[in-house]
Amino acid sequence: MTLAELQAAESKLLLQTYARYPLQFVSGNGVHLRDEHGNDYLDLLSGIGVCALGYNHSAITKAITQQAQQIIHTSNLFYHQGTTELALRLTELTGLDRVFFCNSGTEAWEAALKLARANAKMLRAEGKQIGTKFIAMENSFHGRSMGSVSTTHKALYREPFAPLIPGVEFIPMNDVAALRAAFSNEVCGIAIEVLQGEGGINPVTEEFLATARELCDSNGALLLLDEIQSGMGRTGKWCAYQHYNVRPDVTTLAKPMAGGVPIGAMLCTDAAARAITPGMHGTTFGGNPLAVAVAIAVIDEIKSANLLNHVNEIGDYFRTQLQSLQSKHEAIKQVRGLGLMIGVEFHSADLAKTILGKMQDRRIIINRTHETVLRFLPPYLITREHVDQTIAALDQLLTQQSSSQFSVVSAQQNS
Ligand SMILES: Cc1ncc(COP(=O)(O)O)c(C=O)c1O
Repeated sequence: MTLAELQAAESKLLLQTYARYPLQFVSGNGVHLRDEHGNDYLDLLSGIGVCALGYNHSAITKAITQQAQQIIHTSNLFYHQGTTELALRLTELTGLDRVFFCNSGTEAWEAALKLARANAKMLRAEGKQIGTKFIAMENSFHGRSMGSVSTTHKALYREPFAPLIPGVEFIPMNDVAALRAAFSNEVCGIAIEVLQGEGGINPVTEEFLATARELCDSNGALLLLDEIQSGMGRTGKWCAYQHYNVRPDVTTLAKPMAGGVPIGAMLCTDAAARAITPGMHGTTFGGNPLAVAVAIAVIDEIKSANLLNHVNEIGDYFRTQLQSLQSKHEAIKQVRGLGLMIGVEFHSADLAKTILGKMQDRRIIINRTHETVLRFLPPYLITREHVDQTIAALDQLLTQQSSSQFSVVSAQQNS
């Protein structure tokens, strides 16, 4: 089907949840995507932070093929060695004790919220003073299921679905006084993205995270760190909280875990895990042999190719180059991020939108979040050449843009 035919068919057949870009990709290789006309695009978005090893990576295709020839699914009623092997790797990488496997980010986050409520109930039964309230952050994003949207800040994602899960209070992230004021024995969990993704690439401060840890320790509430976008090496560490000196009670992982095959995980401490007994929570597909085999292959490839070091080095290079652009172009307000999770904030949402469209015309894929922020979540495999190509394109576009604005202003002044 041509793109126009697809657009016409989808407009009648699909629930209209997405405003798609007018592009159709049919294959990919390395860090490039190919459209139906054979044009290659440099992909700096990796399927919204999913395809960490790019496209057509031999580690992934091999794991899929081998596992598909053995067994794809058996259900969680039976043992499977891959589940244990992946759990061993994840507990070692995160420093947490136990794993619940699922199929997506929102499902992992839902498990985290349920665990916080169950943990509080268990503590109450043990005589502790702890309630059912959550503290969540302004500009947060935790997914689209009912619990996840209840802790997600943006009105568009929440309000049409009201009434939501009660007892969630939003506070400005990094406002320590607001956190202390919102906290009481009523709170069962504090929900934080260590590096907010959809909210515009905003890092949490050390002081704020340390305060959240201290408050949770005071009554047994759980510190819930959402690493769905920032985890699995994206920031140059397995989890972004490893850049800080803090151990959460719960973390959630998904997006890049199996390089594009759907999987998610909620990890927690032994202490919190006591609250869950067989039957209380579950999923049919979660941690199925196929997804697990690919997740193991992705982790092993990140380790053997030393990709965390690469993400740190190339991420530093990328941000330094973007900062040089910022000093040249007033349109850029700030460059933020860690590793390969980078945001460039513009003063104007319109300009950010224009630049994104023109980058697509130049066959470079990026994304815009929080209106004014261009977001870069490239595959971990990008090189300096890819960064240089991107910076040159942005530089040219911003130069053209400022000279066209200048000509509009001078034309207006001369008229
Ligand atoms: C921080 C964070 N949490 C949760 C989610 C939801 O993940 P999913 O779309 O896989 O349900 C996302 C997705 O963008 C995310 O970035």
